[in-house]
Amino acid sequence: MTETPKPPARRRLTGEDSLPGDPSREELVARMIRVDHAGEVGAVRIYRGQLAVLGGTPAGGVIERMAKAEARHLKAFERLMVERRVRPTVLSPVWHVAGYALGAATALLGPEAAMACTVAVEEVIDEHYARQAEALGEDESALRDTIEEFRGDEVGHRDTALANAAREAPAYRPLTEAIKAGSRLAIWLSTRL
Ligand SMILES: [Fe+2]
Ligand SMILES: [Fe+2]
Repeated sequence: MTETPKPPARRRLTGEDSLPGDPSREELVARMIRVDHAGEVGAVRIYRGQLAVLGGTPAGGVIERMAKAEARHLKAFERLMVERRVRPTVLSPVWHVAGYALGAATALLGPEAAMACTVAVEEVIDEHYARQAEALGEDESALRDTIEEFRGDEVGHRDTALANAAREAPAYRPLTEAIKAGSRLAIWLSTRL
């Protein structure tokens, strides 16, 4: 018999287990909003790049639907940045260009590679949002709910991409591993800069 996993214990306060010298609760939340905004900028631009190549093809319709969700995510983080007075990462212009380039490059390899790109990015974002939701306490329950909701969308995108032959992409393993490494680096940098 398999046991159903218990839901993680909810934190009462964001950053309640922080140590002296760690960033303040406010700074922790600001960094989360900053990096998430950067990620959604990247997502919007990846799909823009893919649509420049695959627009009007069957894969284009699938990509367009995912791109709509990303535009909604981006808008939500833009609103949060204004409300909380959080500045964007200085790397925003880089993600603008790099996201588009990644999208266009994968789409040029074919629709399967475009889908493989989504699988790779969304797997990293799924982990990233899960970690954030876990770190947020009841004092930030609205933000936590938003992140959980978006995480659900991202997992849905991954499943859509898998259902659209992502695994048939040329060099699926190395391709997705490279994109994952790049995405993790982008997250690391955007949290700090
Ligand atoms: Fe997103
Ligand atoms: Fe997504």
